[in-house]
Amino acid sequence: MAADPRLDGTSIAPSVLDLIGNTPLVRLTRLSEVEQIPSVLAMKMETTNPGGSSKDRPALEMILAAERDGLLPPGGTIVEPTSGNTGVGLAIVAAQRGYRCVFVMTDKVAPEKVSLLQAYGAEVVVCPVAVEPDDPQSYYSVAARLTEELAAFRPNQYANPANPAAHVRTTGPELWEQTAGRITHFVAGAGTCGSLTGTARYLKSRNPDVRIIAADPEGSVFSGGSGRPYLVEGVGEDFFPAAWEPDLYDEVIAISDEESFLTARRVSEIEGILIGGSGGMAVAAAIQVAKRAGPDDIVVVFNPDSGRGYLSRVFNDEWMANYGFTRECERCVGAVLDTRAGMAELLYVNPDQTVREAIALMRANGVSQLPVCKNTPPFAAAEVSGAIDELEVMEAIAGDPGVMTMAVEKVMGPKLPTIGVGQPIERAVQMLEVAPALLVLSGGRPLAVITRTDILTYFEAAADLPADALSPEAPGA
Ligand SMILES: Cc1ncc(COP(=O)(O)O)c(C=O)c1O
Repeated sequence: MAADPRLDGTSIAPSVLDLIGNTPLVRLTRLSEVEQIPSVLAMKMETTNPGGSSKDRPALEMILAAERDGLLPPGGTIVEPTSGNTGVGLAIVAAQRGYRCVFVMTDKVAPEKVSLLQAYGAEVVVCPVAVEPDDPQSYYSVAARLTEELAAFRPNQYANPANPAAHVRTTGPELWEQTAGRITHFVAGAGTCGSLTGTARYLKSRNPDVRIIAADPEGSVFSGGSGRPYLVEGVGEDFFPAAWEPDLYDEVIAISDEESFLTARRVSEIEGILIGGSGGMAVAAAIQVAKRAGPDDIVVVFNPDSGRGYLSRVFNDEWMANYGFTRECERCVGAVLDTRAGMAELLYVNPDQTVREAIALMRANGVSQLPVCKNTPPFAAAEVSGAIDELEVMEAIAGDPGVMTMAVEKVMGPKLPTIGVGQPIERAVQMLEVAPALLVLSGGRPLAVITRTDILTYFEAAADLPADALSPEAPGA
């Protein structure tokens, strides 16, 4: 649309698209004091983009590029398999520029994410998560079929050069201007690598000495992991996307889920800036960098989105405690493990081991349940696929002796209920009224299995303590 002269001299933006980018940079003054950071540590606040995240930038750039390249005719359709921030960005741009948007996602996605995209007028197709990628119902297959049937444009942010280009054009120059060319370090999480690589390209073109630091969840391939699961959302990968450009990065720092989440909560509390788990991860890495940096250095950390999207997880006390990220009491499940001598490591079986092997392991260690976990320790909670129970195995073998040589995954039962290492012993007692054993999580990872016998052993040992020592709220406990 042609510029309207009535807006001349005003600061009325012609459309919401003109509000994408130019996000503020704010010093993390209180955090810097607490952490005794000698350099200047500042945060790029991507929450002030209209969609609330950094993804508005690539969404706009990818659509403008598709229009230029003739891939998206007027009134055309955009299909993308996404449930997150990129979907919001695309939906905003599509609303402004008159496109139809269809997002494909799995039924694992939280219902509010579906509602959020629908609120922008997008259509959402939900596919079952529990099917193989080549199943016609899988979300990959459905996205491919819809793209073809609707003759749609598929932005594919993981391979689209317009994604990093958005940050070369906007984020990089903004940071250069906002720091008067004095930025010395840029720290960001990486998913598609668009923000990290695009911003790095620009900053290095202005000053090759600017240090670029990627923050990465432990387990992700960017920091040398094998792509095993973690809980922080939106960052890290199990493959290298097109924009991965390691020559541009000076350092990759791996950060645990625990440190990411606790840092997000701390920043929100002490700075009054509500950030998500991936923002917490980036800040945790930036604190390390800023502590090493000199007094004249300016360290910028990229905060991609708001903590509002993570209220049911990172900011939910119950969720955090259940994964063993926080302590709810002084005398908690961890104390039961402390009284248990000589069984430090987690006993488990892999899904492809035989039932015979599982029985041998249970017998050798005098236990009646084993979690079934993929890979080798340290496990992520998501790598637990079920449990083997002595009683159930016995019944199965009685009915069919062939079960003995079968793979554990064929006969395993549901996963053991989980409890956080910092949750009250009373909660474990309640849960053990119905479950034979519990899987204890610490820092989001399985730590041990506890049973009624463990609790009784603890009570027995604690009997020598003052009577109120068994209460989780015991004063001075
Ligand atoms: C929620 C979220 N999505 C995506 C990303 C990654 O950005 P990009 O895809 O540009 O690498 C981040 C980075 O921190 C993020 O936190």
